[in-house]
Amino acid sequence: MKITEQIKQPIAYEMELFEQKFQLSMASKVALLNRITHYIVNRKGKQMRPMFVFLVAKMLNNGEVSERTYRGASVIELIHTATLVHDDVVDDSNRRRGFFSINALWKNKIAVLIGDYLLSKGLLLSIDNNDFDLLKIISVAVREMSEGELLQIEKARQLDITENVYFDIIRQKTATLIAACCSLGAASVKPNSSEVDTMRKFGELIGMAFQIKDDLFDYGEEKIGKPTGIDIKEQKMTLPLIYVLNNCSSKEKSWLINSVKNHNKDKTRVKEVIAFVKSHGGLDYAISKMKDFQQEALNLLSKYPESSYKASLELMVNYVIDRKK
Ligand code: IPE
Ligand code: IPE
Ligand code: MG
Ligand code: MG
Repeated sequence: MKITEQIKQPIAYEMELFEQKFQLSMASKVALLNRITHYIVNRKGKQMRPMFVFLVAKMLNNGEVSERTYRGASVIELIHTATLVHDDVVDDSNRRRGFFSINALWKNKIAVLIGDYLLSKGLLLSIDNNDFDLLKIISVAVREMSEGELLQIEKARQLDITENVYFDIIRQKTATLIAACCSLGAASVKPNSSEVDTMRKFGELIGMAFQIKDDLFDYGEEKIGKPTGIDIKEQKMTLPLIYVLNNCSSKEKSWLINSVKNHNKDKTRVKEVIAFVKSHGGLDYAISKMKDFQQEALNLLSKYPESSYKASLELMVNYVIDRKK
């Protein structure tokens, strides 16, 4: 059995129902919108975020979820989808999930509006059902994600960023949403319990490992359904490069910075930078940091009693760093 099927086994029923609810949550009276949301639903991603929501809820509540859990999972996936649609505009990227991105097919103008639509549908799903505690968790995540993206742009202009700034960026732009999944999963069944915070931390650690993995993909040649090798072109400084910048001679550092600053659209030069980062241990270093976050997340889980849900969460943590896309 594939690892993802194994992970989903204890939440198979919930995931199936979730897919129906998620699709309904996007419905609109505007035909163009429905055409585009159909396109989106038919090219679904890994759905890791709803999986976290259901697994955490079931682990903490003897295998029971509630309607709040379903709504929370839909809101999260709506918001995740909205940020991906916007992200591909921001990153000028033409592929997503193995197909053309929304901006590639319908242009930026429509992609921006679709993102806004999905975001507002998500927020309204919480409001219309008085899930205000869940809405708070989600709204904090949305604010942090926008700040994280902007921080990334601000730092891209400076080029010389530290490891801690990188961790701040990925915590905000990616880890907070996975943190929100896990804390929301807890809050949906055990509101106001201490588990809401513990699970937030758990999700944040996973999210950190997740984004480091994503940044490592950019250095690879594997087909992952979206472009690779575009971070340097977009002057996005990620951990492998940051590490090497801080651990090479000043002459090499000048060459690297000059390459990213002035030759970032030159394919040969970008290839040279990538080769330099690889040969100077940048990837190995990022992998070791990723594993530190993974281990911390597993440690947090260890205090919970054994169950099929906990076992799946452990597999999920490992999947985050072993995944092929
Ligand atoms: C992509 O997330 C965006 C990042 C935070 C790196 P996923 O890799 O979970 O995207 P899908 O939903 O599976 O396409
Ligand atoms: C994704 O960031 C994080 C979001 C908040 C959308 P990236 O730009 O690094 O992710 P991909 O590689 O395009 O999915
Ligand atoms: Mg981006
Ligand atoms: Mg991107």
